[in-house]
Amino acid sequence: MADRLFIFDTTLRDGEQVPGCQLNTVEKIQVAKQLELLGVDVIEAGFPISSPGDYNSVIEISKAVTWPTICALTRAIQSDIDVAVEALRYAKRKRIHTGIGTSDSHIKYKFNSNRDEIIERAVAAVKYARRFVDDVEFYAEDAGRTDNEYLARVIEAVIKAGATVVNIPDTTGYCLPSEYGAKIKYLMEHVSGIEKVILSTHCHNDLGMATANTMAGVLNGARQVEVTINGIGERAGNTSLEEVAMIVKCHSGLGVETNINTNKIYPTSRMVSSLMNMPVQPNKAIVGRNAFAHSSGIHQDGVLKNVQTYEIIDPHDVGIDDNSIVLTARSGRAALKNRLQALGVELSQEKLDKVYEDFLKLADKKKDINDDDVLVLAGADRTVNHRIKLDYLQVTSGVGVQSVASLGLNISGEKFEACASGNGPVDAAIKALKKIIDRNMTLKEFTIQAISKGSDDMGKVHMQVEYDGQVYYGFGANTDIIAASVEAYIDCINKFR
Ligand code: KIV
Ligand code: ZN
Repeated sequence: MADRLFIFDTTLRDGEQVPGCQLNTVEKIQVAKQLELLGVDVIEAGFPISSPGDYNSVIEISKAVTWPTICALTRAIQSDIDVAVEALRYAKRKRIHTGIGTSDSHIKYKFNSNRDEIIERAVAAVKYARRFVDDVEFYAEDAGRTDNEYLARVIEAVIKAGATVVNIPDTTGYCLPSEYGAKIKYLMEHVSGIEKVILSTHCHNDLGMATANTMAGVLNGARQVEVTINGIGERAGNTSLEEVAMIVKCHSGLGVETNINTNKIYPTSRMVSSLMNMPVQPNKAIVGRNAFAHSSGIHQDGVLKNVQTYEIIDPHDVGIDDNSIVLTARSGRAALKNRLQALGVELSQEKLDKVYEDFLKLADKKKDINDDDVLVLAGADRTVNHRIKLDYLQVTSGVGVQSVASLGLNISGEKFEACASGNGPVDAAIKALKKIIDRNMTLKEFTIQAISKGSDDMGKVHMQVEYDGQVYYGFGANTDIIAASVEAYIDCINKFR
């Protein structure tokens, strides 16, 4: 019989740490419920001492979710653990994830300490956490660059102290798969008591090896994997849940199985991408737009003769429903509700009515409404409480003429107007905006998300604006790409502190 491989999802902790990916509590609950439907075993819901937002989210997710274990992150510090214990009070199954850096550079530069003292602190934290919960996971931060002999000493000590799960993070994404696999093997063979705990992988993708390293860990005895939806996470991201789940499903010979309902993978991916405003690269394995698109003539010919010639995964297995009803201006509320439910979004009647109204307006502008559009519409009320709103925008531009924009803003109920010319329509519109909001702000990044189908599609703009030494992230979506750009800029300004 195959061993169970536990899926520990850290989208709401490591994933949410990414600048620009922050969710509010309501959105986090939505993601957590979807993760429950997906079948994850553990949801890392946050780092409660880090902010009141994280603390509240752990409380609310604990209330909202039934089956998965809810996990809260801490440092190896008693006050962190106290706050995590409080935040987990409503969880039906709870885990504290505590730990400390174990590599020489962490010990020396981060803690100004020594190896023995680090073991003492690790042991004390695990013992302290065990006073409150039965399930304590220990992480040895930067284990990827910690020498195996010392790492084995740390792990042996925390197991004796009562750890139930031991996490071996490749925090910097440095390891080669052979190296990471050998590390897990070494621990399996040299740590006394290792059979009492579950060894966990936690790999970052700095060198593009997160999934390979995770699988090397599994092949050598790890039975929990720490992953995120779409592989989001610090810097180049974490191991992606969908990749590991489908590797395990496609390769039954590995001798492990997960509890993942793979047909919920795609809707979950879309939901996370949409709520976090984090586009999925088109060629991303499993969930990218092109993951199942066969464009070369030879491939198309083969797939038409027999789909298995070039496809190792049936798209339906990951929830890509090519027969889904195409929504148009003639679709009713029920069809919209149905599509939203398939994407994991449940709305109150009142909110559904509002989204339907916006849907009809959009359907007037573009022929077919796709899943991304529907998710953007469902999340559009994120801006209702914004102080600054775009009232109108008019732009003239073309080849051989200067672009001119006039724009109106509503700032806390007061109307303002300005006009400017610029080097292209976006430049003109932003210059007009800056005439009204005269602050020392600089556009740092400007990404227009690729339009998937048709010239009438909704354009999505991601922006980063620097103001007063801080970088703010904004998002805009509109069938008019200039308007989407201005909306994204205004979204940034609304976040200024
Ligand atoms: O990457 C890492 O080391 C982490 C730990 C806090 C688990 O995210
Ligand atoms: Zn991490």
